[in-house]
Amino acid sequence: MLIKRSSPHAVPLASEITPQAIYEERRKFIAKMALGAVAGSALWEMANREAFAQAPAGAKIAAKRNAAYSLAETLTPVKDATTYNNFYEFGTDKSDPAENAHTLKTRPWTVQIEGEVKKPMTLDLDSLMKLAPLEERIYRLRCVEGWSMVIPWVGFSLSNLIKKVEPTGNAKYVEFTTLADKAQMPGIRSRVLDWPYVEGLRMDEAMHPLALLTFGMYGQVLPNQNGAPVRMVLPWKYGFKSAKSIVKIRFLKEQPKTAWNVSAPQEYGFYSNVNPNVDHPRWSQGTERRIGEDGFFKKKRETLMFNGYPEVASLYAGMDLKKFF
Ligand code: MTE
Repeated sequence: MLIKRSSPHAVPLASEITPQAIYEERRKFIAKMALGAVAGSALWEMANREAFAQAPAGAKIAAKRNAAYSLAETLTPVKDATTYNNFYEFGTDKSDPAENAHTLKTRPWTVQIEGEVKKPMTLDLDSLMKLAPLEERIYRLRCVEGWSMVIPWVGFSLSNLIKKVEPTGNAKYVEFTTLADKAQMPGIRSRVLDWPYVEGLRMDEAMHPLALLTFGMYGQVLPNQNGAPVRMVLPWKYGFKSAKSIVKIRFLKEQPKTAWNVSAPQEYGFYSNVNPNVDHPRWSQGTERRIGEDGFFKKKRETLMFNGYPEVASLYAGMDLKKFF
């Protein structure tokens, strides 16, 4: 674990912040350790995780800062944003993606766009990136586990792509699928989720200008562990809605089956808007810890409705957000 924890009592218990399946897997692992069944080398590796953390790929990506999407908040240090990740295809520990994602081959890369569209197409990365001018936007990202970051992302509104492929009148939802390749992604051998990782949005959510098709962060191309070469960033929703390393975007009549909803429907809804008034069944969503900034003894921040993006509220007018969580 890369984040220094001065007191084990100042942070939530693993059982509070970890999906049930993983929590149980970890308990088994701990039990094995107690039996002395885990090799010494694995223990050494765990103790030296920080040494393995992979630096960002480093290639610069030119983008103009969009002042309309700026925040007067301290940016999360790049080291934290690139070494404290969730990308289960590369392992379930926060440090696993930075250690393991170097095996992901991000070029050549294509994204297949299909389903209820007049112009289905397969775009290579360069063509995709040229669909609209790249912008830098500073967004808050709030993870369902109770932590948050503030990151300068580089990309453009997904609506640019949607307009290009001309959805039919039947297109009510958009589905995003992550690459699932055992050869490149060691985490796929574990059955923690039903692979591939799938996420989805309602069409009006996908068209909202905040929904960012993302190619970079901190002025550089996305590091593999952050979802290279292309991912979504949806700042008003819990982080898991922002699918990484996307290979397919499908337009659908029906609501797609999303990976976390399939895995634990009572815990992870389709909408998953950040909402301090709707607790996760196993923990409160009222507060959050800002990674890299707040000390463990520091009072947590209050979580804001829609993560502080009230402009999306009209998308949900008249909906009971306790039911449609
Ligand atoms: N996308 C894929 N394919 N696999 C994942 O495990 N994790 C999600 C989301 N996208 C995930 C994913 C979760 S839970 C979060 S909080 C964010 O990615 C984390 O993004 P970051 O690591 O860039 O902060």
